[in-house]
Amino acid sequence: MLINAANTLPEVFQLVFDEILLASKQPSHPFRFMSLATVRQQSPDVRYVVLRSVGDRHQLVFFSDYRTEKIAHISENPNVSVLLYHSQKMVQVRIKATAAIHRNSELALYYWNSVAQEARKAYNSSISPGTPLSQPEEAHNWPEVMGSDDFVVVEIVPSQLDVLQLNGLSHLRARFLREEDNWDMQWVAP
Ligand SMILES: Cc1cc2nc3c(=O)[nH]c(=O)nc-3n(C[C@H](O)[C@H](O)[C@H](O)COP(=O)(O)O)c2cc1C
Repeated sequence: MLINAANTLPEVFQLVFDEILLASKQPSHPFRFMSLATVRQQSPDVRYVVLRSVGDRHQLVFFSDYRTEKIAHISENPNVSVLLYHSQKMVQVRIKATAAIHRNSELALYYWNSVAQEARKAYNSSISPGTPLSQPEEAHNWPEVMGSDDFVVVEIVPSQLDVLQLNGLSHLRARFLREEDNWDMQWVAP
């Protein structure tokens, strides 16, 4: 269990973000792979991304290739949703958010410098992600020099959190709504 009925709502909020912060530092943490849902032309699409860091306004940061569909989706509609589940602590966190794309900016270059040389290949494929291939190996081709042009940092800024703690038949559920710099907090029926 991550939370219990004796916790205050500010404690619940803190416990959830402490766990998310931990996940950004521990590769094996269950929150490390986030399900990220985007919208394109009113149709939802979902995939996993890696949580890389958590900002001081509770932003969740992941990296991507500018040429991927998810970046086109976010450019068209910045409303996203993130889903996390911790199977040992039996807690689900649903996040509604807006996403901001950073490319060739100070922030993007700051994170680019933290990406290991070999890992830079993930943002440097010679053939754009999603391009049809005759043979799968065609995609395993990279330039000599790994540039940061297609490397993007995406900041997911949460506006709403729905936390569900499973516990036998006594589940707990809390909802958090961002209002400017404050969070409106409310227990709700599971
Ligand atoms: C465990 C896991 C982690 C992933 N992490 C990322 C990531 O951090 N960034 C990313 O762009 N794609 C990541 N991917 C790949 C995406 O899920 C997706 O397949 C790819 O980016 C194309 O998605 P799109 O066409 O919706 O943009 C990950 C996939 C898996 C299975």
